[in-house]
Amino acid sequence: MSESTQVAIVGAGPAGLMLGHLLHLRGIDSVILENRSQDYVIERVRAGVLEQGTVDLMNEVGVGQRLMREGMRHDGLYFAFNGDRHHIDLAGLTGGRAITVYGQNEVVKDLIAARVATGRPLHFEVGDVSVHDFESGAPRVRYTRDGQSHEIVCDVIAGCDGFHGICRPAIGSHLRIYERTYPFAWLGILASASPSSPELVYSLHERGFALFSMRSPSVTRLYLQCAPEEDIANWPDDRIWEELRTRLRTSDGWEPNQGPITQKSITPMRSFVAEPMRRGRLFLAGDAAHIVPPTGAKGLNLAMADVWRLANALVEFYGSSRQSLLDTYSDRGLRRTWRAQRFSWWMTSMLHRFEDESPFDHRRQLADLEYLVSSRAAMTSLAENYVGTPLD
Ligand code: APR
Ligand code: PHB
Repeated sequence: MSESTQVAIVGAGPAGLMLGHLLHLRGIDSVILENRSQDYVIERVRAGVLEQGTVDLMNEVGVGQRLMREGMRHDGLYFAFNGDRHHIDLAGLTGGRAITVYGQNEVVKDLIAARVATGRPLHFEVGDVSVHDFESGAPRVRYTRDGQSHEIVCDVIAGCDGFHGICRPAIGSHLRIYERTYPFAWLGILASASPSSPELVYSLHERGFALFSMRSPSVTRLYLQCAPEEDIANWPDDRIWEELRTRLRTSDGWEPNQGPITQKSITPMRSFVAEPMRRGRLFLAGDAAHIVPPTGAKGLNLAMADVWRLANALVEFYGSSRQSLLDTYSDRGLRRTWRAQRFSWWMTSMLHRFEDESPFDHRRQLADLEYLVSSRAAMTSLAENYVGTPLD
């Protein structure tokens, strides 16, 4: 079956769904194709820190009601090392900007509801998605649904299909790839336990990194550095709690509250950039174009910034037939991406133990942390990056 639309969006993660919504608000047609089921996309446990710009965007486009009710605004965060916790006043250092803790799956839920309310197409569980002719003015996307083959003829394809999607490989050798993998992973859990601190705690302990976060007043989210090939079967709940308490407990007696573990998983750590973010009429956005290690909490926010920029460029394209914003989409995106890459790499390097590190390296890490929590200039630099620079 042949269909047509203005923008074919591959992937219904935060990037694809937000793009579809931004285009809808400007009267631009789109079809969103997702190969997973709606339940899978909603239940997938991912990141949970929204920058100020992401929160503002959700509100501006009318999908922020639940975020405002249930999201947890944090004006600061803690760094723990050498047994002490040190507070950083994010809002005070950035003229009132803050972060909001709200699960990525909640963002996805809100965006799916908004999409469904528009009546515009959002197809889950499609198969065999492939992209064609994007170097011409009439690109096409093929897919199967309920056993039937479909073809969409469109003006533009948005590759919002994440790191393992098909859009970036379709551009193949035209891309330059920059990549770094880290010699460790994060073991993450969700626990039914009330958060024992109102704000996040990033900790460097001699046994490795640990992070205290949360999802709601009754759910704590915790992470600890582990080996990249670690088998989750080696981590019974008691071992996880013991390790978390050891790495997070501070000399003032603070430690996370314990409760039943409801979810565990292991996430590899990688920095990845594909340049440019465009080939002809195919534009990459979000994890399809770049991956940051989760230490800086930037992945979801970078994806939102990409689609905000892409939507503005498409509004110009359809409103005036000019392509100037489409032509600068990649360069502007890469500037923001590399800013986030540098920050995420720096946070990751400062807070993890490395197998091949020397005693000098570890003392330098501690000196980095010491400087961070004692210099207003250093704290301000951390704060402006952590809460995120305005969308650009
Ligand atoms: N066809 C259709 N959909 C696909 C295909 C395909 N061939 N391949 C992947 N997808 C879907 C995935 O199932 C997923 O729902 O594309 C979506 C991509 O979503 P995300 O991986 O969430 O990526 P993105 O929207 O860019 O959001 C970035 O995700 O990994 C986190 O930390 C990251 O928070 C950041 C966010
Ligand atoms: C989370 O709550 O999932 C989280 C918080 C901060 C990070 C990464 C993940 O840096």
